[in-house]
Amino acid sequence: MNIKTAKQLPRLRFLTCGSVDDGKSTLLGRLLYESSSIFDDQMSAVENESSKFGTQGENADLALLLDGLQAEREQGITIDVAYRYFSTPRRSFIAADAPGHEQYTRNMATAASNSDLAILLVNAETGLLPQTRRHARIVSLLGIRHCVLAVNKMDIVDHNEKIFNQIAEEFREFSNDLDILHTDCIPVSALNGDNVFKPSKAMGWYKGKPLVTLLEEAQIEDVAESSEFRLPVQYVNRPSSDFRGFCGNIASGNIKTGDKIQVFPSAKTSTVKSILGPSGNVDVANSHQAVTLLLDDEIDISRGDIVCKAGEEATVSDQLAAHIVWMNEEAMLPERPYSIKFHSMSCTAQITDLVHRTDTNTGKKIASKRLELNEIGYCKLSLDRAVAFDPYTKNRQTGSFVLIDRYTNATVGAGVIDFALRRASNIVWQETRVSKQHRARLNGQRPVIVWFTGLSGSGKSTIADMLEQRLVAMGRRTYLLDGDNVRHGLNHDLGFTDQDRVENIRRVGEVAKLMVDAGLIVLVSFISPFKAEREMVRKLVDADEFLEVFVDTPLEICEARDVKGLYKKARDGKLKNFTGIDSPYEAPEKPEIWLKAGEQGVEILVEEVLSQLDKN
Ligand code: ADX
Repeated sequence: MNIKTAKQLPRLRFLTCGSVDDGKSTLLGRLLYESSSIFDDQMSAVENESSKFGTQGENADLALLLDGLQAEREQGITIDVAYRYFSTPRRSFIAADAPGHEQYTRNMATAASNSDLAILLVNAETGLLPQTRRHARIVSLLGIRHCVLAVNKMDIVDHNEKIFNQIAEEFREFSNDLDILHTDCIPVSALNGDNVFKPSKAMGWYKGKPLVTLLEEAQIEDVAESSEFRLPVQYVNRPSSDFRGFCGNIASGNIKTGDKIQVFPSAKTSTVKSILGPSGNVDVANSHQAVTLLLDDEIDISRGDIVCKAGEEATVSDQLAAHIVWMNEEAMLPERPYSIKFHSMSCTAQITDLVHRTDTNTGKKIASKRLELNEIGYCKLSLDRAVAFDPYTKNRQTGSFVLIDRYTNATVGAGVIDFALRRASNIVWQETRVSKQHRARLNGQRPVIVWFTGLSGSGKSTIADMLEQRLVAMGRRTYLLDGDNVRHGLNHDLGFTDQDRVENIRRVGEVAKLMVDAGLIVLVSFISPFKAEREMVRKLVDADEFLEVFVDTPLEICEARDVKGLYKKARDGKLKNFTGIDSPYEAPEKPEIWLKAGEQGVEILVEEVLSQLDKN
């Protein structure tokens, strides 16, 4: 098949998934090999390598075709998803190849979000595994409606019909409550090629079509083509004052010159003056094309906005409900700020509510306080600004997002939007006449949060207490918020799990902010072990209103002091999640004030803070 004819065929994007040793590489290798998508030199290399490293005796080990990629992965080179191209006389295919190991759920989700069909591989010897079920659930969540369950390695189980039927039956039962509309089950041997391209002689009992025929005949509607027009703006091109073009990839629908458009979040309207494609002016542009739109009016549009046709508006909100697949070793903690990346814009998001977690095996909804690696949860999110988007069922591109750790920049979660929550639009900020400045002036001081962080027993409270006495003696209006004390009242419902500590700091941060607004100098003394939450509080107030004081006393000294006897209890295993023992402390890297507290007396340390406050 030459490349030209392949291009004219209706294309099918699919992904292959399953557990590690279900034979994914061999199946893909087989598809490439039998569709003659492998060059002769590649094949002779594989034959050569097979005799040395292969697991298939004299036969060529087709899995080796894909192993270049494996090697790169082992070296830690990130290739999220590899795309393989092949074609038959009836159709061309793009196969997304994502690694099967558990830790690569992220890549699998990426592959799924770009695919129309999923081949779920099962090893006939082992049957459905938790990993298979999880993948099926993710595939369904990410909008794939066509699924082929390929029961592989049938040669190892003597091509036994009963075994196949059992697995197929079990899968159909399991997938009943998923949104998969069409499932084919097929017994194959990727190794020998049975039922891949040609019907299997050894499995005459199977009356269905071979895998490739199923793929060729899969009826996939290009939803993007028939949907409402969406252009997420990636870039505003403004080379001179008389040219302003809005560039991006058309996520769905089509547009022509003269169309009335509306841009979100602003809801401003205009008319399309002209459309630029890669090779000049066009009258019409369709989904998947890269374009630059020029409009009749000078309306303000920035990166991240969505251009729609008038009357087909996108949703705008700063609150939304979504399914999230968690992909990080470190658990998702409600209220922790993450970066959220939509189609073409980013902002900050907090998961305000984990409504439930879904057991990927049984589909049961389970109450949960956090999401661990590979878990799926239904969440409510709050964003720091209003954003334009769509529900995922309406548009896969404008309806999905990823969550990113703000410090490591790692992708930690992927989400599909269920709907917008409208709470925010019903609550408006009430302007009051007496301002923070008025109150500060009356107090004759500049309000500030002095935030003490450090291990239990590091001396935070002692230093803060003495500092407050000194400030009061100088006529300053102050308040001291101390962890132990606040936990007696406002936060008496919180313990010491990671998620409770996040909430502890969020609440005390909000209180400190109110006190700054009241014009006070607020001293806060909390272990506050996590960087993310200390930074969250810093961002609640103006830049010069937050001073972080790191009370840096080595663990050995804190433990030797053990004023409350808690370190001993923790060491004896009688107190769980104790900071510094079995719960982490993330030391500040650039605190405004760094107190080497183990080495100096309290008075000197207080002087140090005072002189910094003076400078401030
Ligand atoms: S924080 O981590 O959430 O910021 P916070 O400062 O409010 O902690 O409370 C810490 C105080 O609670 C400690 O000084 C100690 O007296 C007490 N405490 C009881 N259990 C623990 C624990 N598991 N870890 C740390 N502190 C604990």
